[in-house]
Amino acid sequence: MKFFLQHKTVLVTGGARRVGAAICRRLHAAGANVVIHYRTSVAEARALVKSLNAARAGSAACVRGELLHSETPRALVAACIKEFGRLDVLVNNASSFYPTPVGRLTQRAWDDLIGANLKAPLFIAQAAARELKKRRGCIVNIVDIHAEFPLKDYVIYSIAKGGLAALTRSLARELAPAVRVNGVSPGPILWPDADIWQSPKTRKKIVERTLLKRIGEPDDIARAVEFLIAGAPYVTGHIIAVDGGRSIAL
Ligand SMILES: NC(=O)c1ccc[n+]([C@@H]2O[C@H](COP(=O)([O-])OP(=O)(O)OC[C@H]3O[C@@H](n4cnc5c(N)ncnc54)[C@H](OP(=O)(O)O)[C@@H]3O)[C@@H](O)[C@H]2O)c1
Repeated sequence: MKFFLQHKTVLVTGGARRVGAAICRRLHAAGANVVIHYRTSVAEARALVKSLNAARAGSAACVRGELLHSETPRALVAACIKEFGRLDVLVNNASSFYPTPVGRLTQRAWDDLIGANLKAPLFIAQAAARELKKRRGCIVNIVDIHAEFPLKDYVIYSIAKGGLAALTRSLARELAPAVRVNGVSPGPILWPDADIWQSPKTRKKIVERTLLKRIGEPDDIARAVEFLIAGAPYVTGHIIAVDGGRSIAL
């Protein structure tokens, strides 16, 4: 798959850090020009652009955008065209994630979680559709195993990711035959920053429920993304779980 992506342009939302940064690094190593979308992680985005451009001059750029704003989808696509003259691959990776137990959930949390995890991927895909069709490109949505098996107390997040799974299949129909649309559903890869995920007991319980008895690495997700882009020309409308077997032991 090395250099399959040469001269192609990839947009990764939320690409400055964590899993998104691993996806940027891997696709860049496969030859792609990478546009890294970020919102607040400006230092991380700039550092990543610098390191990718040091490896290959003029191969990476970053663009800031609040995904809850309605003008952002078109602005992101325009930034890719301005930087590299084309867009071949969209990776919808950005996400917001926090608990919303019934009784304490709010309209604001609904707008934020549905906005970042579901609405933005749909509207970015719509903004990119013409260019992706022209390039016979593809979309990879980063879903979650909790799209299928809801995470306790994370009602809105689980609904949003469930919607993203449905969106993946729906867009595969809508954009065929020119554009393939697939998803990757991570299991435990990187612990969230929130306090409740720092407890060794909570972590141990989750790890014990993976068949492989460990959490994954960001590059495990990036490998699956690369496969769906570069190694799966007859796959569309499909979501691969990359979860160490967690979803069959939930
Ligand atoms: N980490 C895991 O173990 C795990 C497990 C299951 C599923 N996933 C999925 O895998 C993907 C990556 O996971 P992650 O843990 O690396 O994600 P993350 O750190 O929670 O979020 C990725 C980025 O999304 C951006 N973002 C959030 N809300 C935004 C908004 N309203 N507008 C613009 N950008 C926004 C943030 O960018 P800035 O920092 O620039 O603000 C953030 O860095 C996500 O889709 C996640 O749901 C991850």
